[in-house]
Amino acid sequence: MSAFLWGVATGAHQTEGNNLASDWWAIEHEPGSFVKEPSGDAVDSFHRWREDMDLAAGAGFTDYRFGVEWSRVEPVEGFFSRAAIDHYRRMVEGARARGLRPFVTLHHFTVPLWFAATGGWFRTDATEKYLRYVEAIEPVPTDSVEHVGTINEPNIVAMLARRKEGEAPGLSRGLPLPDPRVTDALIDVHHTTRAKLKAAHPHLRVGWGISVQDCQPEPGAESVFATYVHPRDEVFAEAARGSHWVGVQTYTRIRVGIADGRPVEIAGDGPKTLTGWEYYPDALGGALRRIAGVVGETPIIVTENGIATDDDHQRIEYRRAALASMQEAIGDGIDVRGYLHWSVVDNYERGDYRPTFGLVAVDRSSFERTPRPSLRWLGAQHPSRHR
Ligand code: BGC
Repeated sequence: MSAFLWGVATGAHQTEGNNLASDWWAIEHEPGSFVKEPSGDAVDSFHRWREDMDLAAGAGFTDYRFGVEWSRVEPVEGFFSRAAIDHYRRMVEGARARGLRPFVTLHHFTVPLWFAATGGWFRTDATEKYLRYVEAIEPVPTDSVEHVGTINEPNIVAMLARRKEGEAPGLSRGLPLPDPRVTDALIDVHHTTRAKLKAAHPHLRVGWGISVQDCQPEPGAESVFATYVHPRDEVFAEAARGSHWVGVQTYTRIRVGIADGRPVEIAGDGPKTLTGWEYYPDALGGALRRIAGVVGETPIIVTENGIATDDDHQRIEYRRAALASMQEAIGDGIDVRGYLHWSVVDNYERGDYRPTFGLVAVDRSSFERTPRPSLRWLGAQHPSRHR
């Protein structure tokens, strides 16, 4: 069993820049797009990933989560870019050279435009297309990689599939229910990808990270609570039973009330973060407890947790409380194997650069990285150093 993961998480489209062949790039540039601003160069991590990894390793982190971008690897259907695959292989080697364990996400919201334009996850051959991509990137998850995530937040992917113009701008709260057809398709993708990767590389630990908020039933709403949480995240957690790990990605809480016999979200009146989400660091403990009740023996990794704020002191306080709630959950016997902070650098929040989640600030013109005090603070909290 590997040591407790202590790391940072990033996503390809949100940091790399110029993912010209992706569906999001097209959405960002369509006339009247709901997207506030396009991703453009993002924070140029396609070229500056070494700096990002240096900062993470220098602060004491031991794990580095990053994404492989399908639309770079297969920009046109059936054409695979050898150079893109080599790029991600170099990232794996670069992480190891810095003492970081690479944690590879194969899909993080974006798909190639050709795939989206021809039906995306509604295609009957979606799994087949995805597996062909996974096969093409075989040189990436080599012996140096231990953890692989098949699909980041499949529940949000299934919600976004329902997006109609203006109905669900971005990834904030208030998204529609996941589309059940996409839910089924993604569960199939997860199971078949996992089987394929395991057959080729038995050492890999394959799972997926789900958006899990601390959903709390209001008094009187207990009877409808399951109808709220089951299609939104628990069905995806159930599908992870038997995987090597399930990822919990938590930012806030959602209070679930009842109106006309149906579940409704109740807006909190407490302070909000830059994403408009309630400031509620204890959400991590609550989310871990709920999902532990669903996944049985499957170990949990916190694959994302963070806060968008201009105030780095608040970022540290959020972390302090969130980590304490995680430790309490561990103390109560919940099998948590790691913690990855979202994110190492400020990045593109799909549509907006304003919500700053980074332990490191980035100047968007020069791409200069400036570490915030929270980088060193969090790096130094590695649990093994506090035993
Ligand atoms: C996603 C990230 C996102 C973060 C904060 C998660 O939903 O996986 O891509 O940036 O939350 O909004």
